[in-house]
Amino acid sequence: AAAQRQQRATLTEVLARAAAAYGEELRKSPRAIAYLKQRGVSGAVAKRYGLGYAPEGWHKLAGVFAHYDDPLLEEAGLVIVQPEDHKRYDRFRDRVMFPIRNVKGECIGFGGRVLGDEKPKYLNSPETPVFHKGRELYGLFEARSAIREHGYALVTEGYMDVVALAQLGFPNAVATLGTACTPEHVQKLLRFTDAVVFSFDGDAAGRRAARKALDAALPHAQDTRSFKFLFLPPEHDPDSFIRAWGRDAFARHIGDAVPLSRFLLDAASEGCDLGTPEGRAQMTHHARPLWSALPEGLLKRQLLGEFASLAQIDAAELSEFWAQAQHPAP
Ligand code: UTP
Ligand code: MN
Ligand code: MN
Ligand code: MN
Ligand code: MN
Repeated sequence: AAAQRQQRATLTEVLARAAAAYGEELRKSPRAIAYLKQRGVSGAVAKRYGLGYAPEGWHKLAGVFAHYDDPLLEEAGLVIVQPEDHKRYDRFRDRVMFPIRNVKGECIGFGGRVLGDEKPKYLNSPETPVFHKGRELYGLFEARSAIREHGYALVTEGYMDVVALAQLGFPNAVATLGTACTPEHVQKLLRFTDAVVFSFDGDAAGRRAARKALDAALPHAQDTRSFKFLFLPPEHDPDSFIRAWGRDAFARHIGDAVPLSRFLLDAASEGCDLGTPEGRAQMTHHARPLWSALPEGLLKRQLLGEFASLAQIDAAELSEFWAQAQHPAP
């Protein structure tokens, strides 16, 4: 009966309870502790990010929650219900757990990493009423005050990037959650700062991620804001780079980060031989959607001039050409 039914905890309460249980399990698991140690993670930074461990076993959460069949556990993404036989089992098993918090500090989901080389390397919470991957940034709650103090935010790809950067002097780092950086991510960051440095992996996937981040940043690139792109050597991500080369070397890379205008010009010119009229024409076509995505302002006017000089045509003429409605695909 309704009167006897326990008051239903909210999803975030369920997730907080799970996060606490995973935290306790980490303290009890020499294997998980050894894994984090071997990756250089300090106890202090593990605590700051509330890292945990989901133990091996299919129904460990039955020991955490009084009612393992509570639909809230499924709704929270902690328990999976098989459609065929309605059997339930824990989503996260034998993984190092990274609680994902919203800006209020509530746990809204998890990322879980295998301790070895199994696939998938990371398992994330599914989309739930409280968790939307394209909107949330890992570490934003923890980084908020540091972003304000340092005057900029660092955006990375991975959980371990955020943890390593925080440990080694950059507590202002966040990560997209295994998805491309979206305009919503950028919007969210801009509540805390006017300056963003994107630092993705040095590999091909990281370069594609940087290109997507450019698209996400363009509509927000008002004159008062600064967006920069840091490119690491191909074999590194921020975590491996800062652990190999240290804080000062990473700071130098931040100093060398490419401003949005430069990256925009390079992106438009990519694959175009600007030494030929054909290449300049092609670049002009590639540039149009990028330039058009910029908000009105002085930066946009400046870039019109830059593109005009690359294209070797008059700025007014280029502007008029771009304003024409129909453009055949180049
Ligand atoms: P990476 O493959 O660069 O992993 O994916 P990583 O963060 O450097 O992992 P480590 O250092 O080996 O632990 C970047 C991010 O993409 C998401 C995760 O958010 C990861 O941090 N990802 C990656 C997944 O969601 N699932 C995967 O299987 C792999
Ligand atoms: Mn990668
Ligand atoms: Mn990586
Ligand atoms: Mn990594
Ligand atoms: Mn083309």
